[in-house]
Amino acid sequence: MAPGQLRKNFFDFFEKREHQIVPFSSLIPDDPSVLFTTAGMQQFKLYYLGLADAFKTVHPALGRAIGSQRATSIQKCLRTSDIDEVGDETHLTFFEMLGHFSFGPRGKDEPDDFGVGGYFKKASIYWGYEFIKEVLGLKIDYVSIFGGEDNLLTDEESEKFWQEIKKKKGENFEIKKFGKKDNFWGPAGESGPCGPNTEIYVKGVEIWNAVFNQYEQKKDGSLVLLKNPGVDMGAGFERILAVLKGTTDVYQTDVFKPILDILPDFNLRDRRIIADHLKASVFLIAEGILPSNLERGYVLRRLLRRAILKIKRFDLDDEIYHQLISRIIEIYKDVYPEINHQEVILNVINEEKIKFFSTLNKGLKQIEKLKTINGKLAFDIFQSFGFPLELIIEETKNYFSLTDEQKKKITEEFEEELKKHKEISRAGAEKKFGGHGLILNTGEIKAASQEEIQKVIRLHTATHLLQQALRDVLGNEVEQRGSDITVERTRFDFSFSRKMTVEEIKKAEDIVNQKIKEDLPINFQEMSESEAEKTGALYFFKAKYPGIVKVYYIGSSLASAYSKEFCAGPHVKHTGEIGKFKILKEEAVALGIRRIRAKVE
Ligand code: SER
Repeated sequence: MAPGQLRKNFFDFFEKREHQIVPFSSLIPDDPSVLFTTAGMQQFKLYYLGLADAFKTVHPALGRAIGSQRATSIQKCLRTSDIDEVGDETHLTFFEMLGHFSFGPRGKDEPDDFGVGGYFKKASIYWGYEFIKEVLGLKIDYVSIFGGEDNLLTDEESEKFWQEIKKKKGENFEIKKFGKKDNFWGPAGESGPCGPNTEIYVKGVEIWNAVFNQYEQKKDGSLVLLKNPGVDMGAGFERILAVLKGTTDVYQTDVFKPILDILPDFNLRDRRIIADHLKASVFLIAEGILPSNLERGYVLRRLLRRAILKIKRFDLDDEIYHQLISRIIEIYKDVYPEINHQEVILNVINEEKIKFFSTLNKGLKQIEKLKTINGKLAFDIFQSFGFPLELIIEETKNYFSLTDEQKKKITEEFEEELKKHKEISRAGAEKKFGGHGLILNTGEIKAASQEEIQKVIRLHTATHLLQQALRDVLGNEVEQRGSDITVERTRFDFSFSRKMTVEEIKKAEDIVNQKIKEDLPINFQEMSESEAEKTGALYFFKAKYPGIVKVYYIGSSLASAYSKEFCAGPHVKHTGEIGKFKILKEEAVALGIRRIRAKVE
């Protein structure tokens, strides 16, 4: 089945069952507890928690409320947790997830109930079966359910519905029971909805995962029952394409094979890694992320450098990048038009390649000179040259050999160093930084320097000025829809119905620079949410700031301030510290939503 046909079949099936098709969201979620969108449910977290209302809250991409307790999407996702598995048949960093979602309160929970109310285990288990078996014609190997663990009970309801289906449809697949590790999902990030899940296996591969969100996990790890339990089903798009082709190898599908075909017939694992990592990089660069030593930029750097190194090893010339990137764009540009920027993407990759080779040479010299390596040294090299441990170990091969035992020891020592370092950076930067989470919590870290932190703070204040300037120029239709700040730039998404003219962009930029010139002070006042609202301060998602809120204002008093926003900070003390503000790009992200990228110098 062609990828487009699978997308269509999936949407048709759930649209018929009154699910609202919701566009995919950005790979960079508006949720400080996660780095990337790792699942389709990410954009619906607030609906599960009862903080957004499917009938009232305006959904940013739709420009109106969802209008049903049921939604469906195909979401681009990025996960680094499986990065070490990439290269086998089924693991990927970038992938797409087919999803169907229900946010209570519940309707009838019957598979023939085609209304707009929520549903739960029965309807979703039946629909999963019908879609996999009756629409796609796949044979189910077995299914799994949560078998209970600690004080959480076996999911007997799910078991009952699967038994019912087996009987009615004359199926004889096994219903396996597993513990928390396999059949209890979530939350995405530090906290949020989670619950027992049921999975469908075809050809031994998990292709369907319906999570029954019964709980909210709090930051301290405790579970609280959700008032309205929901369903969050995620199915691996590439895996389904593969099993439809009669294989378990996702790299044989139409979203991978054309990429692999460009690469000469060397080591299959490496070809897969190159294809996966470059694809993920294309999508990250298209989100405005640039390689750096921090958070998302560091993930991109790592993916890119690994691919670059492998390409170099196989002695391929630079033309290969051109071929690979244009092939990736070709495969996806109709579904994800944001990646259709070949030249920009190739430029970013090329610059990174130059930087990488220069540090690579320095790092290699170091290893060559020392004739030995231990975890501490590896960490120093990682710190000074941004050289990941696995690459260091791989590279040492050229100079001396290491036994598996030695490698293990080096890795342990390295992790130890990393942990120490992380604690130091946490104590410093993260506390100060609260929401912006400058430090990765995945082990892929480098600490933010004081200078980098300051840069992000300057960009943060500039973003407040930008929002007000946009409202001055374009009117109050402008409302924040998202924002992301890295050391390189700020990215601001806002509601507005058309492309901005060159003059309007210039005007907004001038206003921000004028306010910087006026060197206005920035202060905040804490007050109750309702008082804060009365001041006219702007807020992005009010529900995110319960109880007492901080209102940051730019100007000599709250009453006379140029800009007022609900915000947790931090900000510069005076706008003069921001430096020169420059808008780099204005573009569409979704219907009625525009995106500006800007920098400060
Ligand atoms: N959130 C679940 C997953 O990622 C189902 O969508 O598998």
